[in-house]
Amino acid sequence: MTFTSALSGASPDTAKHILDSIEAQFQLSQDDLITITKQFLDDFRLGLSEYNHPMAMIPTFVTGVPDGSETGTFLALDLGGTNLRVCEVHLLGDGEFTLKQQKYRVSEALKTGEASALFADSVDAFLTEHASSPTTAPPDPFAVSSRSIDLLDPHAGSALPLGLTFSFPVEQTALDKGTILTWTKGFAAKNAVGHDVVQLLQDAFDRKHLHVRCVALVNDTVGTLLTRAYTAGGCVLGSIFGTGTNGAYVEKVENLTKLGDSAVRQEGGVMVVNCEWGAFNNTRTVLPTTPFDNKVDRESINPRLQAFEKFISGMYLGEITRNILLSLLDAAPTPLLLNGRASDVLNRHYGLDTAVLSEIEEVWESGRTHFTEVEKLSAEDRSRLERIRSIIIQRLSVDAEFVTLRDAAIFRWAASLVASRAAKLSACAVATVLVQTEHAKLGGGHVPEQEKLTVGVDGSLIEHYPNFNARLRESLRALVGEEVEKRVDIGMAKDGSGVGAALCALMATK
Ligand code: GLC
Repeated sequence: MTFTSALSGASPDTAKHILDSIEAQFQLSQDDLITITKQFLDDFRLGLSEYNHPMAMIPTFVTGVPDGSETGTFLALDLGGTNLRVCEVHLLGDGEFTLKQQKYRVSEALKTGEASALFADSVDAFLTEHASSPTTAPPDPFAVSSRSIDLLDPHAGSALPLGLTFSFPVEQTALDKGTILTWTKGFAAKNAVGHDVVQLLQDAFDRKHLHVRCVALVNDTVGTLLTRAYTAGGCVLGSIFGTGTNGAYVEKVENLTKLGDSAVRQEGGVMVVNCEWGAFNNTRTVLPTTPFDNKVDRESINPRLQAFEKFISGMYLGEITRNILLSLLDAAPTPLLLNGRASDVLNRHYGLDTAVLSEIEEVWESGRTHFTEVEKLSAEDRSRLERIRSIIIQRLSVDAEFVTLRDAAIFRWAASLVASRAAKLSACAVATVLVQTEHAKLGGGHVPEQEKLTVGVDGSLIEHYPNFNARLRESLRALVGEEVEKRVDIGMAKDGSGVGAALCALMATK
């Protein structure tokens, strides 16, 4: 076995040509980023003025952000994408909170079965957490379990208020009402689209005779925004870079012209808007789409929808990379990777988890080179490639015999191409919000303002993917100028979904 073997027999020039041409398809110049952001701004404005556009710009009926002084105890259910969380949140004031939560993985069967089963299961999870016998509960002064009997007793005072975080597009008509527009992120539960999500959950609670009332509905981005505002005293944008991607920000009600002359519009002031920016470019106007992206889209559960999300989010980055790698594996007449031998994992749809890309870049990040001559690398770099080689063997079950250091270098290169593009495009979305809210000018330029621009974020990509944040910031600088970029304070809003739901439940019960 030769770890440093050339590309399975292909001439170095042919190989380099193929790899370089793939790389070129993933490049985005500053001009490209500006063009994309301009289109983003146009789509924002269209979505604010009319219903039924891909960029839904959903009014949330949240008409302010917290300042950290809020207190109270609330229950929250968070149906997000990968997991269902049952939370108990204590808002302590002074921007402090405690949270207890239990996480359940949502099975594929529930994601695509009947919606009533999904919600019934969510309530069962909730029951497991909160209606267990008080004697078995931990001695926690805040534990809801001391109220567990109330949950089941219709005569025990008013129902417990619960906030629902539901991280899918929902056209809201009130803080506690909203129709599911479509599923995203691999969900396709039946008899949900077109129905009121709060009602679906409430029915499930009522069927179990639980003394709980769902009083507020929030998107995870809204939760992130509210949570960061609660802990930091203010926030311009809440955004998720995880299984999916999206953002919510505070907009002037006067700009929400699609609300017509409704009472809420006449009141004026501000309202949080859930952009649903994952649907940007569903019209296929501006994103430079590669055949690897088209394959992801075509084979997805929602072709031609969530176009931007499919470039950005954790659910898809592994799959785009897998498509690149498979094209190299299948290159004719001579394979350019793994000697043409895939593994069952690599052959499987969604078999390459974005977490594996993250592990690879953790070893050696910013790998924008595919090294024609691995043998000329330093001993230290070769040992990094050895570590990446082990990840490929272990995590993707590829036969060790067929994995060279050159292959490892190509895996790293592909991961970095896909993740860098995602981070750059994410910057376009962030810049759009800063420009729309008049905190920045596109292309840079002085803005007469000195204060910090607080951005709350959550999601596995932004939290764990090496350099995602740094790459995003670099492009943001190119889009809005250094002066503004320096003032942008991007911080994790940990547990944003649960705390945000609690903050909304508080607003609803006030
Ligand atoms: C998807 C959902 C959106 C959510 C985002 C992040 O884009 O449609 O509602 O906020 O994922 O979880």
